[in-house]
Amino acid sequence: MRIDIVTIFPGFFGPLQLSLLGKATQRGIIDVRVHDLREWANDPHRTVDDAPFGGGPGMVMTPGPWGEALDSILARAGVDTSSVTPPGGGTRLIVPSPSGVPFRQQSAAGYARCDHLVFACGRYEGIDTRVIEEVGTRVAVDEVSVGDYVLSGGEPAALIMIDAIARLLPGVVGNASSVADDSFGGGTGPMAGLLEGPAYTRPREWRGRVVPEVLLSGDHAAIARWRRDQSLRRTAAHRPDLLGSLPAGALNARDRQVLADAGFPVMAEDVAH
Ligand code: ADE
Repeated sequence: MRIDIVTIFPGFFGPLQLSLLGKATQRGIIDVRVHDLREWANDPHRTVDDAPFGGGPGMVMTPGPWGEALDSILARAGVDTSSVTPPGGGTRLIVPSPSGVPFRQQSAAGYARCDHLVFACGRYEGIDTRVIEEVGTRVAVDEVSVGDYVLSGGEPAALIMIDAIARLLPGVVGNASSVADDSFGGGTGPMAGLLEGPAYTRPREWRGRVVPEVLLSGDHAAIARWRRDQSLRRTAAHRPDLLGSLPAGALNARDRQVLADAGFPVMAEDVAH
């Protein structure tokens, strides 16, 4: 997958050379190119922002450098911009923004099916909206938020999204089933829609705390049940909203009992017998 990033802080993306993403680059699974927006600024000060029309605080990024940067990157990558790319393949432009649509595991999975992603990282009060409108006539554009909080710019949001997308590409994470089992994995397995529970490794006892006996028992069915109980409890404690959006029939009588014991009421119609 090719990933182009446009930013006024190219140094922000140094971490992409580390860890799993660094290895994915070395293996040729992802090809990341970081571009300094100021290369496309035409004045001696390489200005990329101006005061907002209509007044208000902060600065808005001007359309000129953005338009030229995106034209040049899309042309260099050989993108046919004569018509908008259908979802699920080709090139997509992602504009991180606190006003965007929420980024979720499912969005990451969708983007992982694209050949080419371009991240347009805005600073200040954002990018002049005409850039998104105009480029959107030629390439699929998504304004995307990574959470209900305001970051100082799109760069950390782009890093988060690239990490979540790249680890879904074949060959990036060693054990494919560990990706499928993740919280929000979106799969159809027993933990679908629940958070992951706690994990333990050696030693069996640490500072007087012992590993739960069931995990040492070798009884796979009992371990699976214990893990599901833990997932249910953690989901009820940390993300009760997720329990509310489980598909009908996702919880059996035992699940309901576990949730009731954890003080979480479950409606009778959620229960499969
Ligand atoms: N830029 C500033 N805040 C952001 C957020 N929450 N998500 C994406 N981009 C942002």
